[in-house]
Amino acid sequence: MALVSFGLASELSSFNNCDFLSSSDLNSSQTFSIFQLSKQLKSGDRRIDLGNRVLGLIFTKASTRTRVSFQVAMARLGGQTVDLNPQVTQLGRGEPLKDTARVLSRYCDVLAIRTYSQQELQDYAKWSTIPVINALTDLEHPCQALADYLTVQEKFGELKGINLAYIGDGNNVANSLMICGAQLGVNVRICSPKGFEPEQKIIEKANSLSRFGSEISLFNDPLEAVKGVHVIYTDVWSSMGQENEQLKRRKIFEKYVVSEKLIELADEKVILLHCLPAHRGEEITEGAFESRFSSIFDQAENRLHVQQALLAVQLGGL
Ligand code: CP
Ligand code: NVA
Repeated sequence: MALVSFGLASELSSFNNCDFLSSSDLNSSQTFSIFQLSKQLKSGDRRIDLGNRVLGLIFTKASTRTRVSFQVAMARLGGQTVDLNPQVTQLGRGEPLKDTARVLSRYCDVLAIRTYSQQELQDYAKWSTIPVINALTDLEHPCQALADYLTVQEKFGELKGINLAYIGDGNNVANSLMICGAQLGVNVRICSPKGFEPEQKIIEKANSLSRFGSEISLFNDPLEAVKGVHVIYTDVWSSMGQENEQLKRRKIFEKYVVSEKLIELADEKVILLHCLPAHRGEEITEGAFESRFSSIFDQAENRLHVQQALLAVQLGGL
């Protein structure tokens, strides 16, 4: 089939060498173009060989999907990855980040970093001379949001006017869903217990980026939030680093379970998404997880395709 059209290539070439630290780093037309490229890569209509480029993975937290999908994406682009976990580098023995970033920039072509604070990620970006990708921080999970909305687009054909209800903690996943969704025309409803809503500044950021009439709204009642929606989304109640709050949160979130009964209140064509890993019996029931509404594994697969497209764009492979 045809190669990427000139319009798509020129749209994306503006992102060569750029960092991807937040969902706001890509504008709506760049994101739509990444979806188009992701679909071409997924179907096999397009192949891109970057010629042995190297992605460094610095992961301070556990990961299955993000780590493996980046490794496979890089292999498919003709490149390779190196594992730079703090446990196996001098980072774990206190070598300063600013030295590490400058050294790694001399060996690698791009870095994907999973860490706690967004500030630390920004510091890596400041000291690196190569592009840096947010592979999850406590504030955002922008690669996840790309895969999520590609999945929704594949299922419904378009994103404008789609109503998505996120049920649970106002966390990193919820933040990127709002910021990315607002730019793509999705109406994002965030439904959390009082005190667990996303930060006001993230809601304001999402609202300021809103395109195509997208609306961001907050709910406390899941029964209200899911009425008529096309997508129900959930994530764990306690994120990595919050393990000591698990017992307390189980009680606070007990009304925020995505169940088959809750799904019945949504649109009849509703799909169910979860970024994974899932805690069955907490944020989602076994029945809902395994139901015909679930697009969870299509969503997980799409991590690979969007990240392959993102790397190709950042490394100038178009
Ligand atoms: N969804 C996601 O980021 O999964 P991992 O923690 O396994 O990478
Ligand atoms: N909110 C979760 C997402 C895991 C992919 C966490 O940060 O642990």
